[in-house]
Amino acid sequence: MAKNNTIFTCQNCGAQSPKWLGRCPECNNWNTYVEEQIAEEVKPTRSSMTASANFSPTPLPDISTDASEHDPVGIAELDRVLGGGIVPGSVILIGGDPGIGKSTIVLQAFGSIASKASKVPGQQGRKVLYISGEESAPQIKMRAERLKINHEDIYVIAENCLERLMEEIKKLKPSVIAVDSIQTIYSNNITSAPGTVSQVREAAGQFLYYSKACATATILVGHVTKDGAIAGPKVLEHMVDTVLYFEGERGHPFRLLRAVKNRFGSTNEIGVFEMTGAGLKEVLNPSSLFLAERPENASGSVVVASLEGSRPVLIEVQALVTSSGFSQPRRTAIGMDSGRVALLVAVLEKVIGLQLQDQDIFLNVAGGIKVNEPAADLGILAAIASSFKNKPIDPHMLILGEVGLTGEVRAVSGIEIRLAEAAKMGFTKVILPKSNAKVKAPKGVETIGISSVTECLDLA
Ligand code: TYD
Ligand code: MG
Repeated sequence: MAKNNTIFTCQNCGAQSPKWLGRCPECNNWNTYVEEQIAEEVKPTRSSMTASANFSPTPLPDISTDASEHDPVGIAELDRVLGGGIVPGSVILIGGDPGIGKSTIVLQAFGSIASKASKVPGQQGRKVLYISGEESAPQIKMRAERLKINHEDIYVIAENCLERLMEEIKKLKPSVIAVDSIQTIYSNNITSAPGTVSQVREAAGQFLYYSKACATATILVGHVTKDGAIAGPKVLEHMVDTVLYFEGERGHPFRLLRAVKNRFGSTNEIGVFEMTGAGLKEVLNPSSLFLAERPENASGSVVVASLEGSRPVLIEVQALVTSSGFSQPRRTAIGMDSGRVALLVAVLEKVIGLQLQDQDIFLNVAGGIKVNEPAADLGILAAIASSFKNKPIDPHMLILGEVGLTGEVRAVSGIEIRLAEAAKMGFTKVILPKSNAKVKAPKGVETIGISSVTECLDLA
């Protein structure tokens, strides 16, 4: 009997089944199963693994960590997210919506790496290779011209075949490789179409083996699905060392680079960029950017301090409360969790006694960024109350605190750095949870400790 050597794979989560299924039992998505050839398992041979890899047990103090030293790219915001720079032999995955600027940041990073290396005397072989599976070489060149990048150590190849690419890589021996994008690369050994789970897994696996073996860093650019996850198997995220997401709202020039996984640094760090006519510009002081167009003395506008990794960012939250013409009022929240907003509205109704049942409530975070922190609760609540009562909040006041269901205000973490950022941006008053009020306030900032939302609204 002929051996059945195909298998059906869910293109969303990578689950496999010997039969076609309409609905994936793992991720519950419909019509995601595609028939694929069973790939011959590629096992890394010992010689293909890193030469420095040690296969015998070694006492911990004797293990050298030189190999995992960060090599700064030279773009401060990118280095921050990477934990100090690119580690030789590491594999970095960058995901993001189409047109967000993934190709741009990779090319800019290459421009920086190539030109930096040439300044270091005696440093050779800092060649970088840009593999483009989507755009032709002249298109890359046009982008580079726009970014004013031109360096003889930046090599470009427009090719999708994995085997051909591996040949070229072994000849060129670049120190950093970028694959734009991993979904367009296919291996001749696998019959399924490019972008399918087996192709992506195989291509990523090959780049990973090469990186580890030759201490070459690889940047993989990944497409995202409509839910915002990196397309292809979840294993892709498990395989690589670092996963970065490039985020931003359409129509806003701000872009956030966020680390969601980093074996060589902290996660939750963000890098802030602005997309300009000449590429991505670093934004070294995000607070001033997000507060730039803040209306002063307008009701419904409150500034909160959100902590992104180790970095405080001041953000303006806006609320608009108007009487509703519908029996079911609207609740729209952009840039924050709508479940949390519903909770805060309920607290305002029950604890403060505001009549919000017949009011439409719209909330927005200025600048197109997101606040996911409970520390912003009290600020959001104060913004809603301010708009409802048509009573502006002091523009030099910052409001911080997590709100509980009974209207109590709970402590938030990282209060010192949030206060320092507030002082830097010229805020003079900060309403904060009582248990946080013990912290020494920076010069020029008055802190007011409160323990309930009632107290906060009396002051604000
Ligand atoms: P790109 O890096 O091609 O996005 P991705 O690779 O994530 O799909 O960026 C494309 C967008 O960025 C495009 O809409 C044009 C814009 N852009 C600028 O505004 N300025 C620039 O200097 C560059 C290179 C692109
Ligand atoms: Mg691109």
